[in-house]
Amino acid sequence: MRHYYQDSHTTLYHADARDAVDAIPPVDLLLTDPSYGHHFTSNRVRGRKLRPVRNDGIRQSVRLYRQVLPLIQAEHVLWFCHWKAYADASDIVGQYFRTRGLLIWDKGHPGLGDKAHPGTDYEFIASAGDGKLAVKRGGSIIRGHKPVPPTRRRHMHEKPISLGQHLLTMFGASSMADTFFGSGNFLVAAKELGISAYGIDLEEQNCETAARALEATMAGEVGSFRYPARGTLHPSRSLNLRKAEPRPATPRRFRSADVSGTDQPARAGDRVAGEMPYASAPA
Ligand SMILES: C[S@@+](CC[C@H](N)C(=O)[O-])C[C@H]1O[C@@H](n2cnc3c(N)ncnc32)[C@H](O)[C@@H]1O
Repeated sequence: MRHYYQDSHTTLYHADARDAVDAIPPVDLLLTDPSYGHHFTSNRVRGRKLRPVRNDGIRQSVRLYRQVLPLIQAEHVLWFCHWKAYADASDIVGQYFRTRGLLIWDKGHPGLGDKAHPGTDYEFIASAGDGKLAVKRGGSIIRGHKPVPPTRRRHMHEKPISLGQHLLTMFGASSMADTFFGSGNFLVAAKELGISAYGIDLEEQNCETAARALEATMAGEVGSFRYPARGTLHPSRSLNLRKAEPRPATPRRFRSADVSGTDQPARAGDRVAGEMPYASAPA
C-alpha cells in the first residue's frame, strides 16, 4: 500500500482496496464504482487505446466485493454496478448494509454494444445503509448528467463530476470514500463540495490522473476543475511518471515503494466461502 497524495480534503492510496480499506476512517458515504464484471472488450475510443480495467471479470469482481464490503465503515453505500452483476452486487452489499433500493443513472443515450438490441442507456446504483435524504424527495431515476464525451475521457469508465455531486448531496455526506476511484471524478466532486474524501485505486496511472485533477480543484468551489485541453487528456499520452516535475510541498504526494498486492489482484486462495462459481465466467 502506498500513500500517494494528500491535500486539505482528499487522501489517495495507490493500493489494492483489500489492503488499504482499513486505513480509511468511518465515513458518511461510500460512493464507488468498482470493476463491472462483464469483461468490457472494446477499449478503443476514436483510435486511442484506453487501458483495460483491472479485475473486470465477473468472478473476480464478486470476489472483490465480498472482500472489501465487510471492511468498510460507512453510514450509507452507493455501489455502481453493471446490470449483469446487479443481482450479485445487491446481494453482497445487502449482507453488510440495509438494502434500501436501486438508483438508475439515465445516461440519455445508448452506448455501444449489441447492435441488434436496444442499447443500454443507464447504469445501476445499489443503495444501502442508514442514510437519510438531505434533499427534497424525488424518484430513483437520475437524469441531467451527461456522460463524459469519449474525446475527453481520462478513464474508460469515467463518470461525470456533476453526477458525483448529485449523489453526494442526496444523503448530505460530509465525508466519503471511493475505494475504486479510476479517474478520481467522485473525489473531485467531493472536494468541490468541501467534503473530506478517501480514495483507493490499484493502478498508478489512475492515482496520477486523480492527483493532477485534485491539484487543479478548489475546495468548496463547484465547477473549479476544468478538463485539460484536447490532445493532452489520456495519461498514456500526457504522463511520463519517471520524468514528472517535482511537486510543491503542499499538496503532498508520498513516494514510498511498498505497493503490496498490485500485481496479483486475484490472489491464490482468495476464494471466499459462499462464493458461487460462474459457469460462463472466465477462469
Ligand atoms: C469502473 S472503474 C472506476 C471509474 C470511476 N468511477 C471514474 O469515474 O473514473 C473501476 C476502477 O477500479 C480499479 N480497481 C480494480 N481492482 C481494484 C482493487 N482490487 N483495488 C482498488 N482498485 C481496483 C480499477 O483500476 C479501475 O480504475
